[in-house]
Amino acid sequence: MKGVKVVGFGHYCPENIISNKDLENIVDTTDEWITKRTGIKERRISSGEGTVELAYKAAVAALKNSNCGSDDIDLIIVATTSPDKIMPSTACSIQGLLGCNKAVAFDISAACSGFVYSLIVASSLIKGTDKKRALVIGAEVLSRIVDWNDRGTCILFGDGAGAAVIELSNEEEGIVSTCFSSDGGLGEKSLVAGQLELNTPFAKEKISEKRYIEMKGAEVFKFAVSVLPDVVNDLLKKADERIENIKYIVPHQANLRIINEAARRLDIDKDKFYINVDKYGNTSAASIPIALSELFEKGLIKRGDKIIIAAFGGGLTWAGALIKF
Ligand code: ACO
Repeated sequence: MKGVKVVGFGHYCPENIISNKDLENIVDTTDEWITKRTGIKERRISSGEGTVELAYKAAVAALKNSNCGSDDIDLIIVATTSPDKIMPSTACSIQGLLGCNKAVAFDISAACSGFVYSLIVASSLIKGTDKKRALVIGAEVLSRIVDWNDRGTCILFGDGAGAAVIELSNEEEGIVSTCFSSDGGLGEKSLVAGQLELNTPFAKEKISEKRYIEMKGAEVFKFAVSVLPDVVNDLLKKADERIENIKYIVPHQANLRIINEAARRLDIDKDKFYINVDKYGNTSAASIPIALSELFEKGLIKRGDKIIIAAFGGGLTWAGALIKF
């Protein structure tokens, strides 16, 4: 039976660390409020690097950790909601920089679920086409679409990138079960960003630009604590697996309170969740691959371990995968 296995990870985050204390100088907030409501202590914010640059550095690390060269890659998918340009895609820019000349490259837009969506799409293409090895990247410079005057949102987000190399495998290890879903109606009402201007000579009604993230925090919170346990249970059921056999759940790192509430609803120990939201804030599509890369870097995953990744985000979207290493 043909499966798809993860070969290696890499990540890169800007060096510029912005603490909650630093934000006290920008908006009316306190370290105490941010820590209590979100678990975030600091985040990395670009002081000039774009999404392509962050993604490229994460990709180089992932290729190195996978012992792969540029010519080994057949497919590049980048998940991002904060690209440098509308065209070319971030993935095509990365292809050019890496010199992955035989690859096909494109972006996926699914907000914070983007990396997991991309992993599922890449895995399906690997199984169903002649593309046998993929570079999957989640990369964001969210600071460019954050309203730095809005204390309700600017404290939440950070910049960064994470990447994985996956390939066709005949072994039992790999992506065991997946799920992905969306609810477009709910998304328009609760979490939006980056409305482009429509101001042509032909427009009956002009639409002005609305660049920044606008979020109904409480609604997103309710949605997140409901879908996170659903994703975990769905993956376990599809894989005929028990939660006791899962070493780590790597959730989208949005907010510690969301993760704690999901643990309560699943009736499992919080320690089963790998958490780094305190260091990076919410890096949207980059959050899960950064966490996975860290887990490997720290030697916390061994051959045979099973983990679950579970994401939720704008769209609204949610997605997950159960992976055996
Ligand atoms: N500092 C101090 N006070 C603040 C701040 C701040 N940074 N932000 C808001 N407040 C105030 C509000 O003005 C309000 O004051 P009021 O009572 O005088 O009106 C009070 O704090 C409570 O505000 P709420 O918005 O009700 O606070 P809540 O407890 O809901 O926490 C939060 C807000 C942290 C945003 C929460 O709703 C949340 O975590 N939501 C989920 C957000 C999220 O994770 N989104 C991303 C997921 S999807 C994706 O990744 C794209």
